[in-house]
Amino acid sequence: MKKYLLVLLLALVPALASAAASNYPLDSFKADLKDQESMQRGMALYVNRCMGCHSMEYQRFARTAQDLGLPEDLVEEYLILGDHAINDLMTISMDKSDAAGWFGAPPPDLTNEARLRGSSWLYTYLRSFYRDDAKPWGVNNALFKDVGMPNVLEDLQGVVINTCTMEELAHGNKGTVEPLTGKRMGQCLTVQPNTGSLSEQEFDQAIYDLVNFMTYVGEPSRMDSERIGLYVLIFLAIFFVFAYALKREYWKDIH
Ligand code: HEC
Repeated sequence: MKKYLLVLLLALVPALASAAASNYPLDSFKADLKDQESMQRGMALYVNRCMGCHSMEYQRFARTAQDLGLPEDLVEEYLILGDHAINDLMTISMDKSDAAGWFGAPPPDLTNEARLRGSSWLYTYLRSFYRDDAKPWGVNNALFKDVGMPNVLEDLQGVVINTCTMEELAHGNKGTVEPLTGKRMGQCLTVQPNTGSLSEQEFDQAIYDLVNFMTYVGEPSRMDSERIGLYVLIFLAIFFVFAYALKREYWKDIH
């Protein structure tokens, strides 16, 4: 009995560990890997805004172009910003140890980030930066406290300020939605009006596209697996008919 209790306790350890990381509630995210246009926009945002610091060193430009339905010459012209060839891996030239000196922590490779952290985590993280003058880059993140990453999307989203105490913020006070106007009231993080080039919905859509793209990169063959899986099921269904007929034939004389 004691053994079982111990096993049960050990099984709980991962849950406890992740619970300790942050109480900030995640906004749910549902990837749509059939929406190639969304992933294309996400890729454009990624190479323009993220790839200066974050590589995707297990993913090739050519594979991405093929999966997202983009012609290779367009990718070469508009989406390869460094001196890469289309068949190259999506690496960057920033030196990891230099970067660690500049930011406190090196920007990690993001090929597998969506699988590591989960898409909902990413979607929430990228929308949870806010101004914090006590920090070296003047920003903090409600989900990833004291993050070393600057807020690289502030010109799109606008200036976000936190109107709560740290305690309230950590528990993710997202306010209540006013039923008539659909506006959020009393939420901790608020965007200062007219400071960003996108509206709140447009910004959420841009981040949706970005995370959709990162979800695809985390598992590029998922669409293929789902398609092949369907064929396998259809095959099994047809095969069952013949297998059953054969079984009846074999057992006919015994009964
Ligand atoms: C100027 C450099 C820079 C740019 C540009 C940048 N980041 Fe970062 N990012 C960092 C650094 C540095 C960290 C490490 C922060 C830490 O560990 O405290 C980081 C961390 C992250 C993390 C968390 C990694 C983890 O699991 O610990 C994610 C996710 C991320 N960045 C996504 C992005 C995305 C998406 C973009 C583009 C919109 C982007 N970053 C642009 C520097 C950058």
